[in-house]
Formats: sequence, structure tokens, C-alpha cells
Amino acid sequence: MRTVNITKFFLGCTTALFFTMHGVQANNVPQFPRSETLPGTVVMVLPEDSPIGPLPPVVIPAINPQTQAKVELGKKLYFDPRLSGNNWISCATCHNPAVGFADGLPRMLGGPASREGGRNTPTIINTAYNPIQFWDGRAATLEEQALGPIQNPNEMNETLDNVVKKLSRIPDYVKAFKDVFGSSVTADGIAKAIAAFERTIVFANSPFDRYMMGDEHAMSESAKRGMILFNTRAECIKCHSGPNFTDNKFHNIGVPADGPLKEDLGRYNVTKQDADKGAFKTPTLRNITDTAPYMHNGFFPTLFEVVQFYNGGGGRSENKSPDVHVLHLTGQEVNDLVEFLKALTGELVQVRYTATPLVYPELPREF
Ligand code: HEC
Ligand code: HEC
Repeated sequence: MRTVNITKFFLGCTTALFFTMHGVQANNVPQFPRSETLPGTVVMVLPEDSPIGPLPPVVIPAINPQTQAKVELGKKLYFDPRLSGNNWISCATCHNPAVGFADGLPRMLGGPASREGGRNTPTIINTAYNPIQFWDGRAATLEEQALGPIQNPNEMNETLDNVVKKLSRIPDYVKAFKDVFGSSVTADGIAKAIAAFERTIVFANSPFDRYMMGDEHAMSESAKRGMILFNTRAECIKCHSGPNFTDNKFHNIGVPADGPLKEDLGRYNVTKQDADKGAFKTPTLRNITDTAPYMHNGFFPTLFEVVQFYNGGGGRSENKSPDVHVLHLTGQEVNDLVEFLKALTGELVQVRYTATPLVYPELPREF
């Protein structure tokens, strides 16, 4: 057991709020009693091995301190289609705030011909908490990740040199880069500003968070039962653990192939270790109601189908994780789990679309 002072978690909380939660009991049913040790002071004791709980504050890397001006610049870049080869696709085309910062498609459409890619577009909500990026973990930081899609021929299909050239002809950008980085427009600055913006896209205060803070009524009875199943018999906690509901590791759960790729080897493409064949990063479950369809290839349209898939023991794969097996959940229990997943959706961060500087540096290369 460890005690966590969640004042650290909630900036702006003047009263120290703590909360007590005991772990899985001998009879395998977790109890979640709260204790008030001082008026307005609740102590939260999280079990060492099942640490779901409210999100801690985002850690800002020392190489990229967060400033308001940098976040504003990052937001402009995020919405600016001139980062792409045909001046037509922005980060927000695929990570669209109106569609849970994803695209609502099973697999992305991108590149000059809008071709279907092999993988589902993950949300950028709470990516600030990811120690690894992409379904196969091939990038570590948001800074490292941001320049990838610009250059990917199947995504934005542009060269960094060209982007820098285009933006350098737009006075608003030249001024913003000077103010924020003290330099001209650079690829490094583009990556840092976009990453700084992404670190502001954090959704917290879900019904689950409010329940954990002591609001008994924040979750329905069905969701509460679902939470207990999640932590115990349904074994979801084995992989979807921690405040962001992911162990940030890679597992093969046997999702059937779908879309243009006959086989996607996932993490194996990065490590070349046989054990990683077909393994993908455990995704966060926060805001999961906003980001259907599900899995690395968008195979499942609904959460109900996802839970049924786990209940039936996952898919078929030689390399499947031993932690995915038949669960024998009743219909009611499947519904309870789905209700719990729905309680993980936090409050929408309002992102006002700021018009990008209205100067067209050149005609699009292609349409
Ligand atoms: C054409 C659609 C498309 C565009 C445009 C696009 N992305 Fe993505 N993005 C994807 C897909 C698909 C993935 C997953 C790819 C994979 O895992 O192999 C992804 C992954 C990511 C991730 C990793 C998230 C995670 O949880 O692992 C981040 C962060 C991200 N994109 C940010 C951006 C930024 C910033 C831009 C603009 C510079 C951008 N994307 C442009 C489709 C797109
Ligand atoms: C062995 C580890 C493991 C266990 C146990 C596990 N998951 Fe997952 N979960 C994953 C991985 C890995 C993925 C992504 C797999 C893929 O795309 O191929 C995933 C994907 C998901 C998704 C889709 C997320 C998205 O954004 O597409 C949901 C929802 C989900 N799991 C819920 C659950 C629930 C509910 C349980 C318990 C019944 C559970 N998981 C048990 C590892 C696990």
C-alpha cells in the first residue's frame, strides 16, 4: 500500500484532498472505503499493483519548457494544412477535435491520393502522458513524433525543408518563431511548438475521477460493478493499469487482420524480436467513447464488441498473451464493464480554431 497526496494531482485545489482505497481483498472483491482523517482531508491509499486513479499533472520535459506563446504557435501549426505537400492536410485533418482528436475511421486516409493506411488513427488526447508514441512505439517523445507525419508519403507527404521555406515566407510565423525561440523558422521549433500544444490537450475530471475524489454519485451502480470486474475477474487491470489506463507495454491480443495490410507485425517491426510479433501498445482507455472504431486497425466498431471479444478469450494468434483468455462474464457483467469504460470520458477541452496566418506563399503543388 502506498499513500498518494493527490493535492499534487490537482492544481488549484486549496483544501488537501486525500482518499482511501484498499486493494483487492482476500475474497478477491476490492473494497473502496474512504476515510476522513482531518476535516476536508481524505487519504488515498492505492494498492501497489492496481494503481488506477486520477491523472497526475503533465510532466514538461526540460528541453521544451511550456509557454503560452509557444502553445499558441503550436496550435496554429497543428491546424495549418500548409505543413503538407498539397497544402491540404493538417494534423487536425486526422486528429480532429470534433472527432475526439482522431478521425472516426477504421484506418487513416492520407497522402496525395487519400489512400487507406494500415492503422487506426489514435487520439492525441492525453498523449502528454505517453512515454512511447505510435501503436508500435517507434517514437518516444511528442517532439520526436511530430515531424514524422509531415514527411510520411502516406500522411502529409512534404519535406521539412519545404515546410520551413513555406512558413518563412509568412510574416506572422517569422515573428512568432522569433518571439518564442529567438530564431528563424526551424523544423526543431515546429516540433517543439506542436508538442507544447499537444501537452495542453488533457481531459480529466471524468465521472471515474470524480468518484475517486469522493463523489459517490459520479458513477452509476452498473459502472461501479464494472470497475470491480475491471480490477478483478475480467483482468483488464493486468494491462490497462495506471492513471492513464495503460502499462505502456506491448501485447498481442489476437485482433484479426483487416484493411489493406494482410499482416501487421506491430512492435516486431521495431525490435525484430519474435516475441513481439503482432504486439501493439496498450492504448489508454480514457475518453474511449470518443474514439471509435477500436484497435490498431479499427476492427471493432463498438465497446460492446470489444468487451465481447475479451470475454470470448481474444483472437487467434500463436503469439497471444497468456493474460487474454475466456472470461465467462454474463451479459449483465459485459454491460457493466462497458458502463465503466464510458465513465472514463473526461471533460472536453475546448480548442478554439485559430485561423492560420492568411498568406498563401505559393500555389499548391498538387490537388
Ligand atoms: C493522414 C492522417 C494523419 C495525419 C495528417 C497526422 N496523423 Fe498523427 N497519426 C496518424 C496515425 C494513423 C497514427 C498511428 C500510426 C502508427 O501507430 O503507426 C498517428 C499517430 C500519432 C501520434 C501517436 C499517438 C499515440 O498514442 O501513439 C501522435 C502524437 C500524432 N499522430 C500526432 C500528429 C501530429 C502532431 C500531426 C501533424 C504534424 C499528425 N499526427 C498528423 C494519422 C495522422
Ligand atoms: C494482455 C494485455 C491486455 C489485457 C488483459 C486487456 N487489454 Fe485491452 N488492449 C490491450 C492492447 C495491447 C490493445 C491494443 C491491441 C491491438 O490494437 O492490437 C488493447 C485495446 C483495448 C481497447 C481498444 C482501445 C482503442 O483505443 O482502440 C479497449 C476498449 C480495451 N482494450 C479494453 C479492455 C478491457 C475492457 C479489458 C478487460 C476485459 C482489456 N482491455 C484487457 C491490452 C490488454
